[in-house]
Amino acid sequence: MIIAIDGLAGSGKTTAGKGLAKAIGFRFISSGQLYRFKALEPDVDLLEAVKEHKLKIEWDIEWEGKDISAELQREEIGSRASEIALLRDVRDEVNNVLRFVAEGGNYVIEGRDIGTVVFPEAGVKFFLTAEEGVRARRRAEQVGEEVNIAERDERDKKREIAPAKAAEDAIIIDNSYQSVEETIKEMEGRLPKDEFDFQRFLQYVLGPPVRGLFRIEVVKSHPLKHGRWILTPNHTSAWDGVCLAAVLQRSAYYVAKVELRRILGPLLSILNAVTIVRDTPDLKAIKAIRALLTKEKIVVIYPESKIFTDGIMGPFKEGAFYFLRKRMAPVVPVVIKGLERITVNTFFTRHVRIAFLDPIYPIDVFGLRENDISDKVKRLMVNAYESM
Ligand code: DC
Repeated sequence: MIIAIDGLAGSGKTTAGKGLAKAIGFRFISSGQLYRFKALEPDVDLLEAVKEHKLKIEWDIEWEGKDISAELQREEIGSRASEIALLRDVRDEVNNVLRFVAEGGNYVIEGRDIGTVVFPEAGVKFFLTAEEGVRARRRAEQVGEEVNIAERDERDKKREIAPAKAAEDAIIIDNSYQSVEETIKEMEGRLPKDEFDFQRFLQYVLGPPVRGLFRIEVVKSHPLKHGRWILTPNHTSAWDGVCLAAVLQRSAYYVAKVELRRILGPLLSILNAVTIVRDTPDLKAIKAIRALLTKEKIVVIYPESKIFTDGIMGPFKEGAFYFLRKRMAPVVPVVIKGLERITVNTFFTRHVRIAFLDPIYPIDVFGLRENDISDKVKRLMVNAYESM
């Protein structure tokens, strides 16, 4: 999901945007930083540099492994950025990079024209404003020098292409007299929510007893309340899906083998299962999963595809990372430990630990082959499993 935050200089979009992204587990991009980078390094082809992993634009700007965000914040660079931002070619270049990096990810992106021009289809659009005096003071505190904010505002607002203005469907927030925390809270409260379905009801009712029964401990978590995610858990027991569901505060769509439908029947549909025919490229399933991701849902895919009950992870199936490689969603590897060799006798003595590893975004694995991605994720999961 893309969350667009637009506004003028000093409207607090960077600080509030970063705070919102942290709170909901999204990544953050400041598009102004890209204009600033272009002002500093006019000869660099941004898209090439990003594809070669020489330029990293998330959270901070890293150029050839060095964090140059502080340098880019100089007012002189900001002023030059505002001038080159008038040029059509520069705008097209920056917009292409933003769209490329963000494709299939969960991002908060701030700028002047994110909701109007760059991502008109963004999941949510905010436009932050504040009184001019307040903005000038904030900006001066930030850069530690006097700034002529009015002049830059005029240029950013009045320019012909992509002027800084609120999209028609943007949520406008005046934060002149709000603390950063209040602005973040207000934005978080306005994010779209999933409809309440049967799985969510079950989580509500059965979540606490299941967590108690299996003594579930989340040893590493990641906020998954908003946006699209593919979870790839290891699979040691049929109960690990139950444990996962008991700690997720959201409905998820489980990709299950078509054979399961015969055993569980209608229960599978109630639990939002997407069934696949194993070992064949199942176009119908791919389409169904793609549609779910576009609707910003959580999809669970077991990369081992079947249960390996002794805790030694089986080979990862080709295809588990198809959606990541095709830039449709970020992957959160999930490691579950404590359900190995479960039997009736040992059922009540379990202590289950669950770790949600750091998300892997499409941009992180750009240029890698499916096998390399799969190996990389498996290594991360095995290491986490062994250290739990
Ligand atoms: O947000 P900032 O101050 O870092 O942005 C620097 C300049 O870049 C800003 O004055 C105008 C330009 N800019 C733009 O034209 N469109 C954007 N989406 C972001 C920034």
